[in-house]
Amino acid sequence: MSGISSTLSERMRTALNEQIKAELDSAYLYLALAAQVEQQNLKGFAHWLRLQWEEELAHALKLYDFLLQRDAAVELKALNEPSFTARTPLEIFTQVLAHEQYITRRINGLYAMAVEEKDYASQTLLQWFIAEQLEEEESARDIMDNLKLVGDSGASLFLLDRELGQRPKEAED
Ligand code: FEO
Repeated sequence: MSGISSTLSERMRTALNEQIKAELDSAYLYLALAAQVEQQNLKGFAHWLRLQWEEELAHALKLYDFLLQRDAAVELKALNEPSFTARTPLEIFTQVLAHEQYITRRINGLYAMAVEEKDYASQTLLQWFIAEQLEEEESARDIMDNLKLVGDSGASLFLLDRELGQRPKEAED
C-alpha cells in the first residue's frame, strides 16, 4: 500500500468485501450441490456444478484483485455453511436460479452505490458482473426448464446429464 490513501470510499470498500464473501458463499453452495447430485450418480450435473464452483471463485478473485488495484484493504470473512433442502435435479436448479437472482440483486445494489458515489472504475467492474449475472440466470433457467420438460423420464434425464457433462470450462477474461 502507498502512503496516499485509496480513492475507493470506505462504504464501497466494505460492500465490495462483502461481495467477495457472497461469491465465495456461492462457490461453497455449488460445491455442496455438486456432491449432492454426484451421489445420485448424475455425473454430468455434478460436472456442471463443479465448473460453476470454479467460476464463483474467479468472481471472488476479480473483486479481490480490483480492491488491491485500488489500493484498498481486502477483508476475508467467514463463509456460510451451505444450507439447502433441494434434493432432485429440478429442486436443485430451482434453487440455483433463486440464488443467482439474489446475487443479481446484490450486484445491482452495488452498481447503484457506485453511481451514487460517482465511482466510475467500480461502475465498469460492476457492468461486467451485470452481464455475467444475465448469463448465469439464463443458464440456470434453461436447465430448470429442461428439467421440467423431462419430468419423470429417466431416459431424458440420462441424456440431459450427458449434455451437461460436456459443459466446457469458460475462457478467462
Ligand atoms: Fe458470481 Fe453466480 O454469481
